[in-house]
Formats: sequence, C-alpha cells, structure tokens
Amino acid sequence: MRVYIETLGCQMNRLDSELVAGQLLGAGYELVDQLDEADVFLINTCSVRAQAENKVYSRLGREALADRRRIVGVLGCMAQRRGADLLKRYPFVNIICGPGQLDTLGEMIARAAAGEKTIACDPDRKDRTAAAEADSSIDSLDHDRNIEVGSPAQAYVRVMRGCDKFCTYCIVPFVRGPEVSRSPDAICQEVKQLAAVGRSEITLLGQTVNSYRFPAGDATVRFSDLLERISGLSGVRRLRFVTSHPTDFGDDLLEAMRDLPNVCRYIHCPPQSGSDRVLRAMNRRYTRAEYDDFIDRAYAIMPDVTIAGDFIVGFPGEEESDHQASADLIKRSRFKNSFIFKYSSRDGTVGAKTLDDNIPFEVKRRRNRELLAVQAEVSLEHYRSFIGREMELLVEGPSPLSDKPVNVGADPNLVQMLGRTRGDHITVFQGPESLAGQYVSARITDAASFTLFAELAK
Ligand code: 5AD
Ligand code: SF4
Repeated sequence: MRVYIETLGCQMNRLDSELVAGQLLGAGYELVDQLDEADVFLINTCSVRAQAENKVYSRLGREALADRRRIVGVLGCMAQRRGADLLKRYPFVNIICGPGQLDTLGEMIARAAAGEKTIACDPDRKDRTAAAEADSSIDSLDHDRNIEVGSPAQAYVRVMRGCDKFCTYCIVPFVRGPEVSRSPDAICQEVKQLAAVGRSEITLLGQTVNSYRFPAGDATVRFSDLLERISGLSGVRRLRFVTSHPTDFGDDLLEAMRDLPNVCRYIHCPPQSGSDRVLRAMNRRYTRAEYDDFIDRAYAIMPDVTIAGDFIVGFPGEEESDHQASADLIKRSRFKNSFIFKYSSRDGTVGAKTLDDNIPFEVKRRRNRELLAVQAEVSLEHYRSFIGREMELLVEGPSPLSDKPVNVGADPNLVQMLGRTRGDHITVFQGPESLAGQYVSARITDAASFTLFAELAK
C-alpha cells in the first residue's frame, strides 16, 4: 500500500512524521509524495493556534470531495484533542491517532484496511497522572528508528516529550502530556547511529529542551551534561537544540555552548512578551528583568551568539504600553529573527477559561505588523554585520527563495542553492546541485533582513 504523509506544525511533528515514515517502510508500505497516488493519506496535525486547526478542516473538506476513497488517518495534536469531533464531522476518516500512540500506527492501518475504524487518543496513556507509563512509552517510537529515512545530513532527535510549564495560552501540555526526559544512553545511541550514516547536524528537540533532567543515582544529568556527552560522539559536526525556556537557561548551559566546539551558538528562547504584566498573565514564570539578564549573560559569555525569539501579540488585556515593551525587548535583545503570533484562544487552556480574548483582530494585526517591522530593522543590522566574512554553510538544496534572480551566471550547471550557517542564517549562493548535504565555505557578499547572499569561497 502506498502512503502519503502531510505534516503541519512544529519540528516535533516533522520528527514524528519521519519516524512514522520509517516505521511504515519497515512494515512493507511504500511512501509516495503525491496524494493522488496514495492508498493511505495521513495528516499529522497541530493545535497550537486556530489557524493550524482550520487548515486540517479544509484539507479534510477537500478529501470529502475526492473521487476515490482511500484510508484517511488524522495524527498528532488535533487527533488527541478533537478525535471524536473529527470522526463525527468527517465520517470517512478511518484512523485517529494521538502523538503518544504513533508507534501503533502500522497496526491501525492494517485494521483500517480490513474495514475497521481505529481510534488511539486514549488520554489514559498520556494522562498527566500517568507519568510512569509515559516514561516507559517515550522510547517506543524513537527506539526503532529507521535512521536512513529523512534528510541526508541533518536529523532531529527527541530528548524529552511534553511540557509541565502550563503557560495560560498554550494547549501543548494538554495534548503532549507531562514532561518526560529520555535516558542519555538511549539518546547517545540514536545520535551515534545517525552520525554513522552521515547525518552530522543533530538538532535536539524538546518543548522546553533545556529543562531536560535525568536522574542518575544521586546525581542528575542536566541538559548541559547531555550536550557535553553528545558533542563527544564521533561524526557529530553540528549540534543544535530547540526550543528553550528562559527560566532554565543557566550559565552552565551557556558555558557548555561556549566550550564545546561543535555546539552551534544559536539559541531559540521565546520571551512571548516584554511586559511584566502580560508575562504574569501568561504564567511564564519570569520577569522582564530576568529575561534581560538572560540575554546579557548570553552575550557576555558568547559575544557571537545568535538569538531568536517568539512573541504573542494581542494577549488578553495587552495595552499599548505592553506592546511597546515587546518592541523594546526586540531591540534590546538584538534577535536574529522572531516568530510573531496573534493570540488565539484555545479551549481547555486556563487562558480560555479565565481571560477575555478582548483585543480586536484589527489591533492584533496591527501589532503583529509593527513587531515584524521592528524585528526586520534589527535583523537587517544583524545580517549586514556578516558582509565580507567567510562562513561555513551546510547546504540544504536548491533555494525556494526567488528575491534574487536564479542562474545569474551563464553556467547552466549552477543554480541558486540554500545553506545555513551555524548561527541558523539562511544563505543563498550559486552552486551545483550536487552540493546538497555538504559543508562548504562561503564569502558573504550582501544581506537582506532574513537572508545572506554569498559566493563559494575558492
Ligand atoms: N496563540 C498564539 N500563539 C501561540 N503560541 C502558542 N500558543 C499560542 C496561542 N494560543 C506560540 C508561542 C510559541 C509558539 C510555538 O507558538 O509563541 O512559542
Ligand atoms: Fe506551551 Fe509554555 Fe510549554 Fe512552551 S513552555 S510548550 S508555550 S506551555
């Protein structure tokens, strides 16, 4: 049977889809990259904002009109959260599978092929009180990883699941369950196997990755200890991690980043707001001064560190002065880039129960545009500071960007290629497609707000 997988949402979902793909290949399924050719359509979903859920409704609406019936499976966070409702609305859906049950998907497809409907979003398995069980199941999907499925030079590795922070706007703790860290041995084993097949850029994933803790006798393996262990494994050329939470970013981690040569000096650590009042209402557990202190420590320990953030605009009760505080935080922190989101009330969260989503859409939209404009200015200055320098790029492939003409040179073998620096700067240059998956050295010739332009160093 041929399977088509569509992935929405965060890197955790991309990793889950890759693991599912590996699992299904191992079970004899074939993967296709055109929905038309598929007997099984799997959609891995996201619930973090209403917009992400609307995309799934529209994809399933289109599927309802499709000429041929195939097996349809809804996976991930939205399956966990809205499984029963989805089945009622789209009776042709055969499989509902939450993020904690993806290891059973092969069997679910087989049952669906035999005409059964299968639902695995049993909250018991991911129940907040069933941490011990979640603990034993954490390795179930990652454990039997087919290491050759996925990008040739890069790989995500899960170090923890779930989240215990309960920010008042966020659905993640409800759909991904309690925070559980994987054992360092299991993680290292997986990284070793990946590195052995050339997947030399490893990105460690966790919802709050730097909160990683694993008990080892009387001691605790902290995230900085884990980084040190992984960075010593052979074949690991770049080591990254996302996403961090500001309260757990101690100097031990900043110093580890400074001292371990293959750890990329790139931090994604969302502030969400620059205003104490809003941070409190969000239950972020830090103040503006504490966030500023984190930024100061980061630049003091690693003057060349690159930092990226996320913000939510239009949080309930956000006033113009709060919004200005966020704009000020972007300037002060000198972020490389920020992802800026309009507040979206999610049922089931404390925010939806207790806060009035009282900022008009137009105001959210304006604040979103304003923060983007402030960030674009900060980014331009940041990106321009690299002009003239020679940087290492990991080439990802031909560039989907089109703001510079493709094939400026006459050589028909050269196309516009895209790579990333260690600091996560997207960089485009002319080069042969055969460079995909390789490291090259490039001289930066120009910069825009979110792109470096380069030529291959001779
Ligand atoms: N509304 C808007 N943005 C949200 N995020 C998480 N929950 C919401 C929500 N309810 C944003 C946060 C987080 C990113 C992944 O998504 O900025 O860092
Ligand atoms: Fe959501 Fe907050 Fe946990 Fe991040 S730290 S996943 S925003 S609850």
